Amino acid sequence: MRIEKQRYTERFGSVKINDVQKVLELDSGMRARLTLKEAIALDKIAGRRAKLALKEAIAVDKIEEGVIKDYEKKMAIVIPIKNEKLQLFEGVISGVPHECLIIVVSNSERKEADRFEMERDTLEQFCRFAQRQALIMHQKNPALALALAQAGYTDLLDEVGETVRDGKSEGMVIGLLMAMLARKEYVGFVDADNYFPGAVWEYVKCYAAGFSISRSPYAMVRILWRYKPKLSGQIYFKKWGRVSGTTNKCFNSLISAKTGFETDIIKTANAGEHAMSVRLAEILPFASGYAVEPQELVSLFEDFSGVLPTANQRAARDGIEIFQIESRNPHFHEERGTAHLREMLLQGLGTVYHSLLCDEETKRMIIRELLAQRALKRGEEPAKPNINRPPQKVNIKSFIDFMAERVDSYSALKG
Ligand code: GDD
Ligand code: MG
Repeated sequence: MRIEKQRYTERFGSVKINDVQKVLELDSGMRARLTLKEAIALDKIAGRRAKLALKEAIAVDKIEEGVIKDYEKKMAIVIPIKNEKLQLFEGVISGVPHECLIIVVSNSERKEADRFEMERDTLEQFCRFAQRQALIMHQKNPALALALAQAGYTDLLDEVGETVRDGKSEGMVIGLLMAMLARKEYVGFVDADNYFPGAVWEYVKCYAAGFSISRSPYAMVRILWRYKPKLSGQIYFKKWGRVSGTTNKCFNSLISAKTGFETDIIKTANAGEHAMSVRLAEILPFASGYAVEPQELVSLFEDFSGVLPTANQRAARDGIEIFQIESRNPHFHEERGTAHLREMLLQGLGTVYHSLLCDEETKRMIIRELLAQRALKRGEEPAKPNINRPPQKVNIKSFIDFMAERVDSYSALKG
């Protein structure tokens, strides 16, 4: 794969935010066989070719297939799912590169038509034919709640404390904990309602590419799609959605107010498709529901920008690297209507609004935007997000020990 090199990076304390890097070539061909030295020693023609390669390396990163595969081996792909069409789910799992461990966390209905059973069946069949491992569990499984309670991670449980709360974010955190159980070093998230398996495949390649160029063990890759097509009579290849455009603007306003330099660096505030090193995930708080992705950025800025007390000295020393990679495949997923988009905007902007870093001007901008998009009524404020503590604050080992004993019942490839 070839992607643009990081050409522009903004630093906010220990957080390095890289500007968008585009994917230039999905498949960059065979591994270059000669090193520059070897080539020059061999003959002039090869030498010339090698010099060209060196020139290319100034603007472009070529990430070899083998390197990508090495990262995929160390990565779990978590798929949160709630009542999606089975055909979409089947397409999504077929797009996850073979070396990755698939972890499905489902909150689908289990009534007369047991959708979870159908998902499990689909995954098991896939694993049998593709000869690969996967884990699948239901978010409301009482054993999960018990394991979390024992680990002291009651943040994820409902008021009664017997089941995990609803929410994509809660599903993501469970997936993350299972990735830790499987001793993975990276965890990537992919929604189950993606229409194109090829896009899923590319997202994971982008995750691996980002991790391979990171200099810090605390790394995050957020996908920006090149187009998000809309259907209204004819297909229109739209780039920015209403939610993402607005959330990015408010994030940039918050950073600009703090640094005194106007910026547009944040382009992936809502990125559902994103990945991080487990080292980073361990120390990150996760907000409930759709506030999760914007809150990750808010928390990184609060904990590591140096404006407020630093949350983790080690991570601050190593630095946190955020990559925003623009994929080639258009992003096409289920449309859920305006009310859903308003809710997502409200939850996302609530994270910025309630951040200890948020200035009055940005707060006013948020209220203006929410009123304009009818996500809020006059005189109202966005609700404060519910934030689950970082996994490191609870007894992860206890969760892992509890679940390890039962892991066979979650495995999709039996025997
Ligand atoms: N396990 C679990 N539990 N999964 C859930 C739940 C839940 O309670 N609710 C939703 N999901 C799953 C969906 O089935 C889907 O696979 C994924 O989470 C995302 O939910 P969508 O409802 O499709 O969200 P969206 O498409 O509007 O928004 C997505 O993109 C945004 C950025 O454009 C999400 O990924 C957002 O988080 C993201 O900000
Ligand atoms: Mg969706």
